[in-house]
Amino acid sequence: MGRKIGMWLYSNGGGDKIQKKIVKKLKERGIETATDINLRNAIAKKGHIYHGKHRVDELDLFFSYNAGEQTQYQTFLYQALNRVMPMINSYDAFSLTEDKFQTSFLLQQHGIATPDFQLCHRDDSKQLQKIMNKWSKMVYKPTDGWGGVGLTKIENQATLDMLLPFLNQMDLRFFYVEKFVKYDNTDFRVDIVDGEFVGCYGRKASKTDWRTNVTSGGSVFLREPDDEVIAIAKKAAEVCGTDIAGVDIIYDLEREEYVILEVNGIPAFATPEQEKMGLDFNKKKINLIVDMIDRKTKK
Ligand SMILES: Nc1ncnc2c1ncn2[C@@H]1O[C@H](COP(=O)(O)OP(=O)(O)O)[C@@H](O)[C@H]1O
Ligand SMILES: [Mg+2]
Repeated sequence: MGRKIGMWLYSNGGGDKIQKKIVKKLKERGIETATDINLRNAIAKKGHIYHGKHRVDELDLFFSYNAGEQTQYQTFLYQALNRVMPMINSYDAFSLTEDKFQTSFLLQQHGIATPDFQLCHRDDSKQLQKIMNKWSKMVYKPTDGWGGVGLTKIENQATLDMLLPFLNQMDLRFFYVEKFVKYDNTDFRVDIVDGEFVGCYGRKASKTDWRTNVTSGGSVFLREPDDEVIAIAKKAAEVCGTDIAGVDIIYDLEREEYVILEVNGIPAFATPEQEKMGLDFNKKKINLIVDMIDRKTKK
């Protein structure tokens, strides 16, 4: 029997065109693709997971490349499927990279530099106070956020005092804070697929924000990474077990070294506008993904 995979890829920002290219290249290798397999619309019964006419669990691989922020239902099925078939990214890698604390912890365990961080219980405001005295500037981060949303820079005691009652009101289990890194307000986004370097670009924060995210007003620019940046990104992708990773890196001016802010498991392809700017890694990325799917589904 021929090979068939399931796929769920975002369609905005040129995603629809990328999907067409992937499907075509897979077909050339004799691999069929069932697209738009959103697990939100799937049902599990009688030992199978059904999506329309497909038994998703009987496909040869599942390529999940849509919203990072999935509902509990979707991730529940993601986890179940991963027990019986290859998935890109694996459920483990997906759920790890969805959480900034878990990721930073693992990276540090493997000797990869990240900003200093601390995690403490929500009731432990004493500890938070201690950290504040030590670091003087820190960033409060939701561990499962994206796009810079919810990140709060705590610059002095007054900000902390103001923030605490607000945080206490939210239903949080813990506080995850990072030391505020002194950097030049630019970052590197390095894409790695199947252990290979795919491409890199930079982002620069706007004049009025300290975050480089485009959603926070940051702008994308062409940026050549040096060998060190590429090596760090590759190592991070390996440690996280991500088949596909977009690694966010900044240069810490005080420590004089690169630090990893986060690993994204679903890094966007270059949009049509970015391609016009000169970000030309989509082709390489597609080819590496197709090669990898081919290899992982060989019978
Ligand atoms: N510890 C830090 N010190 C200084 N700036 C930071 C720190 N952490 C994050 N930032 C800034 O905030 C942006 C968003 O942080 P990041 O951890 O990548 O979360 P998100 O998932 O929201 O993109 C980064 O691109 C960077 O510009
Ligand atoms: Mg980021």
